[in-house]
Amino acid sequence: MDEKIQWVEPTMTATPASSGTSAPVLTESDVNTWRENGYCLVNDLFPENLLKLVANDCNNVFPSPLSEEAKKINYYGGFVNFPSTYDSVNQLPLHPRMMAAVAQLFGMKDLTDVRLTQTEVWPKYGRNDSSHENNEEDNADQRMHCDFPSHTLTHPPPWDEPDAVSIILYLSDVDECYGATAVVPRTGKEDPAYTYPLSQMPGFGTTEWKNNRNIAEAYLREVAPEVAQYRAEHLYPREKRVRYRFGTVLFYRQDAWHRGTELKPGCLRVVVNMTYRKAIAEWISTMHIGWAWAMMRKNLPLENLVAKATVEQRCILGFPKPGHSYWTPMTIAAVAARYEALGMDMKPYIEAIKQ
Ligand SMILES: [Fe+2]
Repeated sequence: MDEKIQWVEPTMTATPASSGTSAPVLTESDVNTWRENGYCLVNDLFPENLLKLVANDCNNVFPSPLSEEAKKINYYGGFVNFPSTYDSVNQLPLHPRMMAAVAQLFGMKDLTDVRLTQTEVWPKYGRNDSSHENNEEDNADQRMHCDFPSHTLTHPPPWDEPDAVSIILYLSDVDECYGATAVVPRTGKEDPAYTYPLSQMPGFGTTEWKNNRNIAEAYLREVAPEVAQYRAEHLYPREKRVRYRFGTVLFYRQDAWHRGTELKPGCLRVVVNMTYRKAIAEWISTMHIGWAWAMMRKNLPLENLVAKATVEQRCILGFPKPGHSYWTPMTIAAVAARYEALGMDMKPYIEAIKQ
């Protein structure tokens, strides 16, 4: 790898995964880094045995790196989503340590007012040839971007009021795969890279969405030279790359500049992308197809998951929290009829209605 690369080194979580502790998970310094700079990078968030299960399960799904099928995968998504047939994958966004970390970043005591909008396991392949270089959608060497245009119908609120937390959990190692995510750290209110609104990317306003870095920048030089100039001056020269290994978690923001970089030829890199939004921010869309199709599976996997989940876990899936106006004696009885036999304890909902 290029020796001139500037690296972001991961820190350790405030408490080790092996402790089983879920508060606090992130150090104060990491929470502040996410709030101020737009990201933080941590190791030892999830228990190693859970991550190994996820990796093993997903290995069965992705084509091997040098196969013809792998060559066709230059984009994202659709392989393994929540709710998955793999219980290991379903555990990730509902894991108490992940949920505690997200609550810390939002500055909330729990996630009852937060919703899960994305859990997808994504493969990315290192190319052995140059066939992708003319494909504007190719993700090998991505253009610098923020994620919000593909998540929200609006634009993120001003910097100090984040309404989403985005996550990349790496199930590979940068020394073997390369392909480190690059981020542009925000340096403060006056940072020219982060003037509000964040408009300087293809796919914003009238410019077309393009993913491939060379093609996107050439296009912008043509149709929006001031945007291309801004990117060349303020974004690319300031990028730093995250030194990830198996289990590293990148927390970032939908208003943080970042991009994917090229992998080592012949390598398969696996990551899990997760996103949580504030419940009130309904304009942030759900990235995957949602839960409804899983409720048509014959062995009731989602119903079982909901029944056995904690109140907080249910809330991030959109289940009404105790005290919500949905709950009346009639709805409590109706939901109990559906879920109690599967193990749901209705007490928190009954108690809240009495108050
Ligand atoms: Fe992105």
